[in-house]
Amino acid sequence: MMDLLYTMNPKIHPKEVAEVFRRSGIPRPVDDTERIKRMIENANLIVCARDGKRLVGIARALTDHCFCCYVSDLAVDREYQGKGIGKALLRRIKSSQSEEVMILLLSLPGAHAYYPHIGFKKENHAWVIRRKR
Ligand SMILES: CC(C)(COP(=O)(O)OP(=O)(O)OC[C@H]1O[C@@H](n2cnc3c(N)ncnc32)[C@H](O)[C@@H]1OP(=O)(O)O)[C@@H](O)C(=O)NCCC(=O)NCCS
Repeated sequence: MMDLLYTMNPKIHPKEVAEVFRRSGIPRPVDDTERIKRMIENANLIVCARDGKRLVGIARALTDHCFCCYVSDLAVDREYQGKGIGKALLRRIKSSQSEEVMILLLSLPGAHAYYPHIGFKKENHAWVIRRKR
């Protein structure tokens, strides 16, 4: 197993977040560094995985710490996928939240099979208003 460093709410540069999004394949506004910067600044729960200085995985969430926690982005660099990093990031999100908190997320088509694997239940009553851009 690789020696990775996991950190909670670290200082992190928007460009490296854009880069790990890009390298994971997750569709995010990777060419808009200013928007990525706001995504980081306004989230209150971010877990990072680093291999040395290199950011190789990230989970970004918004939580009130007493009722709900929305995991917006879970991304692992393709070169590092399938090594338990995604699971480790989510485990850290989960253990940072008390039993009062529901953790929810939206899955990409390619990750549908992933979430039951790591303890999430499918919810058929989710409703969204899509962002326009
Ligand atoms: C989905 C993603 C975050 C998973 O992270 P990862 O570090 O590669 O996954 P892990 O190594 O933690 O996998 C944990 C387990 O799930 C399985 N798994 C991983 N990806 C899977 C997938 N897409 N579908 C089904 N099972 C999957 C692994 O085989 C592993 O099984 P094990 O515990 O029996 O060994 C990562 O592949 C990724 O960034 N994908 C592109 C972006 C994306 O889809 N993000 C999610 C958006 S909602």
